[in-house]
Amino acid sequence: MEAGLIPSFDLKRNYARIEGEIMDAVERVLSSQCFIMGPEVSEFEREAALYLETPRTVACASGTDALSLALMALDLGPGDEVVTTPFSFFATAGCIARLGARPVFADVEPGTYNVSMERVLDVLTPRTKAVIPVHLFGQLCGLEEITPELTRRGIPIIEDCAQSFGAHRMHEGRIMRSGSWGRFGCFSFFPTKNLGAYGDAGMICCKELGDSERISRLRVHGAAETYIHGELGINSRLDAIQAAILRVRLRHVETWIEERREAARRYDLMFAERGIQDVVTPPVEDAGNRHTYHQYVIRAKDRDALQSSLSNRGIVTRVYYPMALHVQPCMKFAGYKMGDMPVTERLTEEVLALPMFPEILPEEQERVVSAISDFYRG
Ligand SMILES: Cc1ncc(COP(=O)(O)O)c(C=O)c1O
Repeated sequence: MEAGLIPSFDLKRNYARIEGEIMDAVERVLSSQCFIMGPEVSEFEREAALYLETPRTVACASGTDALSLALMALDLGPGDEVVTTPFSFFATAGCIARLGARPVFADVEPGTYNVSMERVLDVLTPRTKAVIPVHLFGQLCGLEEITPELTRRGIPIIEDCAQSFGAHRMHEGRIMRSGSWGRFGCFSFFPTKNLGAYGDAGMICCKELGDSERISRLRVHGAAETYIHGELGINSRLDAIQAAILRVRLRHVETWIEERREAARRYDLMFAERGIQDVVTPPVEDAGNRHTYHQYVIRAKDRDALQSSLSNRGIVTRVYYPMALHVQPCMKFAGYKMGDMPVTERLTEEVLALPMFPEILPEEQERVVSAISDFYRG
């Protein structure tokens, strides 16, 4: 009989480490009776900007809104195209389509699962209004490869950093921090993210003052002053309670990222010791990258059968993502079909996210890897 369930993530263990600090922060907001925006939100924006080494941040209600607001600030609309990856959470492409533009997909790299920089350049057209690379699972794309050409053509980069808070990449002595390379960097603070709120929350990093000012207006219905609406915006204000919680969690996020990296190294070693490379491919950390392991995603032969077998042994795993974006039913209008993105399509059948969170125990990881090894070797 095996020990208890191993969850894919465990927010309760994390909360137990910081409960007192969180309660103090929530109490502070309740005492102030200031619930929407206000000083907690502006302090969080300031502290997050310092951590991310970015000049400006604008907090908002979710990662989805962060992407939408960045695209609205570019006046995206019908007739425009935005190049992105077909291997991401739906919001990445959904935000483009929602504004009436067409998502144009570029296939991904099989090693990092990130969009191929070469293919991005291949699909640019005079209608390309922006490129949205997603730093998937916590590892940055090699944006230095496409930046000169995009700059030459005047096409801005909107980084989808929903999964890559705290990630960075060294290139020729320059450090690229998640969210601070492109014109916009969009973050999600969904509770399970490396920096998560206790509800929905998001943020946009901006290089230019004009952009941060415009986005600050767009998030409050396009109002520059109360009740005067210069343009159409949305309601994407951040709650003070979420900001206060994020401020507490921001103070710990470095430790948690290091713990995730430690756990990833342990998985790597355990897999190397089992000798099952013919059936399981662990994730690749690209040279120069600080992967933050929002997810530890392997590629596995007979993935669905493996997942059921792990589930029978009390190990919870997830499939990110079982259906590519270019073949989602609501994306038909974009004009893609099965077969157009072969690398992504193969990944949707092979990827499996193993349990990964800062507090995961080496014994639990050992159980996960043993169970995987038993599945293949019996
Ligand atoms: C890559 C990616 N983009 C965008 C989002 C949207 O963020 P949110 O759920 O905060 O709206 C997510 C989050 O789940 C994501 O993983």
